[in-house]
Amino acid sequence: MTTLTNISYLHSRIKQNLETEIIVAGLGYVGNPLAKLLMKHYPRVSGVDPNPKRVEGVGVEAHIDYDYLRTTSVNVVIVCVPTPLSKTHEPDLSYIVSATEDVAQYIIKRAGSPVLVVIESTTYPGTTEELILPILQKVGVLGKDFFLAYSPERLDPGNEEWNIGNTPKIISGVTEDCLTLVEALYEPVVPVVKVSSPKVAEMTKLLENTFRATNVALVNEIAIVCDKLEIDVWEVVKAAATKPFGFMPFRPGPGLGGHCLPVDPQYLAWKLKTLNYNTRFIQTATEINSEMPAYWVSKVQDALNEKQRSIKSESILVLGVGYKPDTDDIRESPALDIIKLLQDKGAVVYYHDPLVKDLSPLLEMKSVADSELNYDGIFGYGAVILATDHSVYFDQVPGILDTLKYPPEHLCVVDTRGVL
Ligand SMILES: NC(=O)c1ccc[n+]([C@@H]2O[C@H](COP(=O)([O-])OP(=O)(O)OC[C@H]3O[C@@H](n4cnc5c(N)ncnc54)[C@H](O)[C@@H]3O)[C@@H](O)[C@H]2O)c1
Repeated sequence: MTTLTNISYLHSRIKQNLETEIIVAGLGYVGNPLAKLLMKHYPRVSGVDPNPKRVEGVGVEAHIDYDYLRTTSVNVVIVCVPTPLSKTHEPDLSYIVSATEDVAQYIIKRAGSPVLVVIESTTYPGTTEELILPILQKVGVLGKDFFLAYSPERLDPGNEEWNIGNTPKIISGVTEDCLTLVEALYEPVVPVVKVSSPKVAEMTKLLENTFRATNVALVNEIAIVCDKLEIDVWEVVKAAATKPFGFMPFRPGPGLGGHCLPVDPQYLAWKLKTLNYNTRFIQTATEINSEMPAYWVSKVQDALNEKQRSIKSESILVLGVGYKPDTDDIRESPALDIIKLLQDKGAVVYYHDPLVKDLSPLLEMKSVADSELNYDGIFGYGAVILATDHSVYFDQVPGILDTLKYPPEHLCVVDTRGVL
């Protein structure tokens, strides 16, 4: 049992950063850099993740199960677990529920010593208060045994200007005390923006990603429009971007990928469906973005047709399979859809990606060796589709840009990123 009131006890523990003990639950794309960021100020950060690969070489002490919590006196647990869609395209909150249940077991063991629980996973408005809070309330009292906050992660992997340490962090608490504690936690490591409730914070994150997903859909539709009008869409976007106000450039591409943009708007759409509201923008944007791989495959088909050839039996190289440049993340990557569509049409498909060497179990394919990515190697294919413009292709593979820009007569090149 603590001697001060529980809020002031926990507050002073967090303020004494050398003593604060923090656990990050989920050491993936978000949890790993977050743990490292917190380590800069709080020396006692560790992690837990059931995936042994995520626990190795993470740079903080890490464990594969919660058993070790028995021996520690943790002040803060930060939950960064996945929030995917189920097979029926509904929010799958099983990871958050399971991680919260593990934390609840720990709260029981702590018997009176308070813990701040911070949820970071992206989810629909209401999750923290309607789903997480009741799980914790089964084992303890809010404000006494635990405090609960929600702070969405805004990380943009690969963004060199805005990283996890300089992007302002939205913070919210189920009560004022919860907010005070999460502010004390994050304020020394990142600029914070306080909002009035977890619902507002949850919605803010979904607005940000829905904004992006719908704007990408808009520019993808403009790409199709420009194609029909025989206008270079990338030249149009570049020209429009010179307007200093009222326009924000988004670039067309092979579709929408990653764990966030294709998924997060569906969380909002699902929640609104339960309230009998149909989110029309989201629906239209989803349709356009998910049709883009087929559009680009049709461009390959057109290019081959012009040379009196068909996709069937043609050997086609897909360059880059990460969902965006310079990431090994292939979740929801449109490049995978492009590969599947080409294979369905009978093409013999090869892929190269400097960061993704193995696509199994998603697709049975072997990666083309880096050493084959030269003029002679590329010469052997009937078509090349640039799906992801990894910077390696421009910085470290001599001649590839010229080979693709000025291909030999027989080679069809389709550039989904407007970089050639
Ligand atoms: N990847 C991004 O760029 C990004 C950006 C902003 C927000 N987000 C959101 O952050 C959350 C995490 O995303 P991510 O990309 O890091 O996912 P991820 O799959 O890379 O990592 C999540 C990790 O959680 C682990 N895990 C699963 N159940 C667990 C449990 N009960 N206890 C502890 N660990 C558990 C998994 O093994 C995995 O390693 C998601 O809600 C996502 O939408 C992601």
